[in-house]
Amino acid sequence: MCGIIGYVGDNPAIFVLLQGLERLEYRGYDSAGVALIEDEKLFVEKKVGKIRELVRSLWGKPLKGTVGIGHTRWATHGEPCEINAHPHTDMKGQFAVVHNGIIENYLELKQELTKQGVEFRSQTDTEVIAHLIALNYKGDLLEAVLSVLPKLKGAYAFVVLSSLEPYRIVGVRHGNPLVVGLGDGENFIASDIPALLPFTKKVIPLSDGEVADLRKDSVDIYDFEGNRVVKEVIEVPWDIISAEKGGFKHFMLKEIFEQPRTTADTIKGFISREYTLPVSLNEFRRVLITACGTSYHAGLVAKYWIEKYAKVPVEVVYASELRYSDNPINEKDLVLAISQSGETADTRFSALAAKEKGAFLVSVVNVVGSALDRESDYTLYTHAGPEIGVAATKTFTAQLAALYCLAVSQSPEREQLMAKLLSVTSLMEEILSRAEDIRKIALSYSSAKNMLYLGRYLSYPIALEGALKLKEISYIHAEGYPAGEMKHGPIALIDEKMPVFVIAPRDRTYEKILSNVEEVLARKGNVIAIGFEGDEHLRQKAKDVISIPHVEEDLSPFLTVIPTQLFAYYIADFLGLDVDQPRNLAKTVTVE
Ligand code: F6R
Repeated sequence: MCGIIGYVGDNPAIFVLLQGLERLEYRGYDSAGVALIEDEKLFVEKKVGKIRELVRSLWGKPLKGTVGIGHTRWATHGEPCEINAHPHTDMKGQFAVVHNGIIENYLELKQELTKQGVEFRSQTDTEVIAHLIALNYKGDLLEAVLSVLPKLKGAYAFVVLSSLEPYRIVGVRHGNPLVVGLGDGENFIASDIPALLPFTKKVIPLSDGEVADLRKDSVDIYDFEGNRVVKEVIEVPWDIISAEKGGFKHFMLKEIFEQPRTTADTIKGFISREYTLPVSLNEFRRVLITACGTSYHAGLVAKYWIEKYAKVPVEVVYASELRYSDNPINEKDLVLAISQSGETADTRFSALAAKEKGAFLVSVVNVVGSALDRESDYTLYTHAGPEIGVAATKTFTAQLAALYCLAVSQSPEREQLMAKLLSVTSLMEEILSRAEDIRKIALSYSSAKNMLYLGRYLSYPIALEGALKLKEISYIHAEGYPAGEMKHGPIALIDEKMPVFVIAPRDRTYEKILSNVEEVLARKGNVIAIGFEGDEHLRQKAKDVISIPHVEEDLSPFLTVIPTQLFAYYIADFLGLDVDQPRNLAKTVTVE
């Protein structure tokens, strides 16, 4: 949802900006730009398309400036074109702004500024910020920024620099993420930690309502009233290697293959009792899970586990739906917000609204120091490391691991259950060693136009997740459905052109799902099934079977999801699509 990077130091800023932007490209990739201070003047370059287009246009330009800002855009206001790309500047070209988020009252501000003689060049909401700062500048960039903030409505983060003060950059966080990186004689600011990893692991995540004033030897943080704020410096536990492709063709493939380790790392955090929830789930009248996308699917799996082990009713609601509902939340509820990034606007805002109504807010996040992490009463971390592929994979299984550990945390059999959970990671390895077989099967479905994914009980959320993966990276239309519901409607769609992906481990619903397979076959549908090794029933019925090792019912999602991820990946790669950065998507969705 747009990526921001800023640098102030003694080295040429352009190298930092371009490296940072490449690492932020997953946040948006329809245009990109940089602004640098070159010989006390502003230099701005923007290009439509990916960062490589920007790099090409900068090729051979001897840029020496040591202060700069950069941006990669996911368009909200104004189509992707050079004029709408960031940075945006004021009329005299002395101030440049990069922005992530939405200035909701920009039309009003634009009208006011137009009356004052400002000529707008773009259709963006961002341009108003540059003009406002320029008009309110009285010799101090920080002062000018602070004076403009009360006029801006919406959720945003922006960074500004000025040729009038060519030694500082100022960043503001109000709803959208911004992290300061601390170097030696140089400092950085970015939307997300992976952009900072090549340069530093010491970071200060800004909170909403904070402004950072960065110079090469100092970082000062203020609130919107200009009062100093003392912040803790966090050492990021991720290394730069984990943000590299490491020989894999795509980040997504690498991240799929990392899952045995990232799942184990997450479980170990619980085995070592790194987390001791200060409350028990069954103290509450219900657990209300809220999340979006893949994280929502993890929540659907967790519902079955929590109801089984903690014996509390669980409701799972899309965050975007919970926020504007009349769900009667109160202090008897434990709200569990699940978010890889910890910055998803829908999830954060619905979780915060629930907290305000008295609920106890527990979050499951991957990014330490993210907004949701800081806003929750308690956080459980997934140790998945940075996930760069836009489609979530390893963070899903890490979320499952954290949620399973949470579900069994009060069980008298906790230790045994956790040990079994840990052993599932070697079964995940086994599936990954058969990736080539899955690739061959996947390629034979690459010309499908539609697909149906079916599962029951714990495999139902995996059907949803498998369908989501396929549609988001291969653009093949896919629907996930509870298999038992098929006969209530979707069965009408089934014919020989509609492959049906059935997730059928031998669990309590196995017999029922075999009947659903029969129903598909009776309508000439082709079935691809995930089933346990040696499952002859399935083999006789399905056109293709992806075998997975036998595993206890509870733990099947850790295994069944992997073939669905690989299936989607291999199809998208075969179709020559941009697997890591699928069209129209952004990794961290900070708008509602
Ligand atoms: C799908 C995907 C998205 C995210 C969703 C929530 O592959 O990545 O559906 O799961 O945008 O993001 P987080 O977990 O960061 O809140």
